[in-house]
Amino acid sequence: MTQYRWVAHDDPIMQQVLDLRFDVLMAPFGVTRDDDWDDADPASLHLVAVEDGRAVGYARLIIHGGEGQVRQVAVAFDRQRSGIGSRLMREVCAKAVDCGLDVVYLHARHTAESFYTRLGFVRVSEEAFPFGRTGMPHVRMEYRPGIGATS
Ligand SMILES: CC(C)(COP(=O)(O)OP(=O)(O)OC[C@H]1O[C@@H](n2cnc3c(N)ncnc32)[C@H](O)[C@@H]1OP(=O)(O)O)[C@@H](O)C(=O)NCCC(=O)NCCS
Repeated sequence: MTQYRWVAHDDPIMQQVLDLRFDVLMAPFGVTRDDDWDDADPASLHLVAVEDGRAVGYARLIIHGGEGQVRQVAVAFDRQRSGIGSRLMREVCAKAVDCGLDVVYLHARHTAESFYTRLGFVRVSEEAFPFGRTGMPHVRMEYRPGIGATS
């Protein structure tokens, strides 16, 4: 069974999350490992999907004022396409409602745009743009709690 847990930055499971984020988000692009993320930033909330003590999915919600930014959404290769990513994002959107956020935004890899669209996110950038350390084309997408998809 998969459990979905909001954890503190110093929870032991975050060591596995560092590996997961690197393996899924960086290694396939030949990007060198850099764990120099400020996971201790109190604005960051960490959601982990756990199966039998193994971190199989992760999403990070960073809250600034009335806005939330989602980053580093990753599901282990052998557990992709089994609903874990969708459930993580639904939990993130529910948290945004709980926190009274006006908007949740993210920079989606163009390959994942349809995944976020299905969850109610709307693309707001016309052009894709290179983003992050991989330089992959990304698009900005937004979700408005209480309203859902807007254009
Ligand atoms: C993208 C990702 C987070 C989705 O998580 P997941 O658990 O695999 O997704 P789900 O099983 O909840 O998928 C639900 C639906 O989203 C769509 N989807 C999922 N992954 C997709 C992908 N890579 N490309 C296009 N559509 C995708 C599919 O329509 C899927 O439904 P289907 O399996 O019935 O076709 C995960 O595949 C992943 O970690 N990919 C590599 C890293 C990445 O791209 N992260 C996002 C960075 S912005």
